[in-house]
Amino acid sequence: MSQSQSENIIVRDALVWGKADPQDLAMQDGKYVQKDDAFLNAGFNEIEASGKLCVPAFVDPHIHLDKVLINESVRVNETGTLTEAIEIIWERKKHYTVDDIVDRAGRVIMSAVSNGVTHIRTHVDVDNIGGLLPVQGLIETRKKYADIVDLQIVAFPQEGILQNEGAAELMKKAMELGADVVGGMPFNEKSLDDSAKHIEFAFNLAREFDADIDMHVDETDDPTAKTLEILARQTIANDCQGRVTAGHTCALAGYTTDYADEVIQLVKEAQIHMITNPATNLMLQGRLDEQPKRRGITRVKELMAEGINVSFGQDCVKDTFYPFGREDPLEIAFLTAHAAHLSQPDEINQVFDMPTHNAARVMRLKNYGTEPGCQADLVILDAANPAEAITKQADKNIVIKRGNIIAEMETHRKILWSPK
Ligand code: FE2
Repeated sequence: MSQSQSENIIVRDALVWGKADPQDLAMQDGKYVQKDDAFLNAGFNEIEASGKLCVPAFVDPHIHLDKVLINESVRVNETGTLTEAIEIIWERKKHYTVDDIVDRAGRVIMSAVSNGVTHIRTHVDVDNIGGLLPVQGLIETRKKYADIVDLQIVAFPQEGILQNEGAAELMKKAMELGADVVGGMPFNEKSLDDSAKHIEFAFNLAREFDADIDMHVDETDDPTAKTLEILARQTIANDCQGRVTAGHTCALAGYTTDYADEVIQLVKEAQIHMITNPATNLMLQGRLDEQPKRRGITRVKELMAEGINVSFGQDCVKDTFYPFGREDPLEIAFLTAHAAHLSQPDEINQVFDMPTHNAARVMRLKNYGTEPGCQADLVILDAANPAEAITKQADKNIVIKRGNIIAEMETHRKILWSPK
């Protein structure tokens, strides 16, 4: 496979995910263009994709880059629960510096890029412990890595808004500093009434900044957690259909079927984007269950059956919540297929939509795809189809960002024995 850093590239015989047949793709000045005479006469570099599966870049719509890689500098999470994971971070957060955050987030971004992820939506803690420093750290990170990744920042009031004194003012300042999206964690308030006020605050702030909303919703096994219903109703009331995302929503799995159906219909009407984070939630949820222990993730299949946009995220990389992770969508696709019982060929294809087209819809990317005018991002996978890519955790042979090759991967395996 030839390589180039040129502004003019033709990728030959690329089987783009979502397209029926392999095609040639022309890139110029960082965008896809028509392969016309003017382009061909301008000279170009050629990459042979040989019919391999290509994606217009992977998209991770849910990670916490301010917290990644902190597990080596804090005590272990002995209960393995979300509550203890959050509490351990309180002390560590007081010692954050901008450089510390840029360093840790940057290392994970480099891993992401090598895995073909070039669009990331990251949440960042906003509270009276860390103040605005985590946001400042990720704004610096966004600048430093702008050539290789498009980063959206979600101001995330993990400690609550009503119960965390000063959080409301800090949330506004975070948006003024440059956060893109208003976050939330409404279940982390002292009453359902306060949860509703937390959500109302988010809608008011989002309106002020013309921003989307992306909340952590009911990340608990507790079926009495019902903030997803409130979020859906307020999304409709505020006329924000299609601009709101709900992450985690583990409690939805614990509802009675009747109530779950009712909430799913509201989510559908509100056009809320849903994100499951199976790596983290398989690890955190069900810790207090006797056997059989719950699976820990939301009702992925039921949401998909209603045509709701479902994606998945990495969520955590080596922090107090989750000890593994390398920001690789193929790894999370493998986990999602298992955790959500997605085993049939069509279902596996739908899993592959999650870190590509579905995640692009979550982030409302306007130039995602391989049509002329779209940003010239592309990942050539060493696989012929999604099932093969997930099965062998395929190499990302070439990663292209805005028409520049930014990463290559080719794993060499040699077996030194053969049958007689
Ligand atoms: Fe999260």
